[in-house]
Amino acid sequence: MLKCFLFIFIISVFVPLVLAMRGMILGPGRWLVLNIIECENPDQYEIMYNINRKKINRTHDCFNMNMELDRVINTTYAIHIDVYQEFDGRFNFYKKITDDCACSFVMTHAGVSAKRALTMANIDPPDCPLQPGPITINNFVMDYRELSRHSVYGTFQADVYLLYNKVRIACTRVIANFEYVDDEADDFDFDDYGDF
Ligand SMILES: *[C@@H]1O[C@H](CO)[C@@H](O)[C@H](O)[C@H]1NC(C)=O
Ligand SMILES: *[C@@H]1O[C@H](CO)[C@@H](O)[C@H](O)[C@H]1NC(C)=O
Repeated sequence: MLKCFLFIFIISVFVPLVLAMRGMILGPGRWLVLNIIECENPDQYEIMYNINRKKINRTHDCFNMNMELDRVINTTYAIHIDVYQEFDGRFNFYKKITDDCACSFVMTHAGVSAKRALTMANIDPPDCPLQPGPITINNFVMDYRELSRHSVYGTFQADVYLLYNKVRIACTRVIANFEYVDDEADDFDFDDYGDF
């Protein structure tokens, strides 16, 4: 069931980075990942999983992952991301992002942190191809401030698909928000934000 989880997990966490790097730039601010959930009708995908995400505070989340990889993840896996932007309480289609090679896509957009996650999983070298076997990641702490500080303001939903031979074999949905934050604001008062 949990075949390619690690990969789609890494991609999901870095969706905001991907959005920003694909030219969707408006102004300075900060990303917040509001949720990472299953796509609609998750049963239709060959690969299903649950993501264990614990919120630490406004800027940090913690992830745990356990899986048995039953196949080699190599360059034949493609990626497709449908991005929607919230407008008047509804998500409207905004942009499609695709790449024939999910591996190089991840390494290009999230190389440093992807390697950190793969190293935590004892994958050596921390790169594709990923070999079959058990993969465990405990307490992968994501600092969202690592993500791009310039982007389009708004709330976005991204459906991230992993494809093999053009068939969508896994999907995860990321909801993230990019809001204006004064630059140099690493030490701003988190209480200003309240709960969400
Ligand atoms: C948020 O959590 C991270 C990781 O534990 C920590 O390093 C950081 O100082 C925390 N930030 C605040 C404002 O508490
Ligand atoms: C990638 O993996 C698939 C399935 O295991 C295999 O059929 C294919 O030959 C591999 N491709 C490369 C370039 O290694």
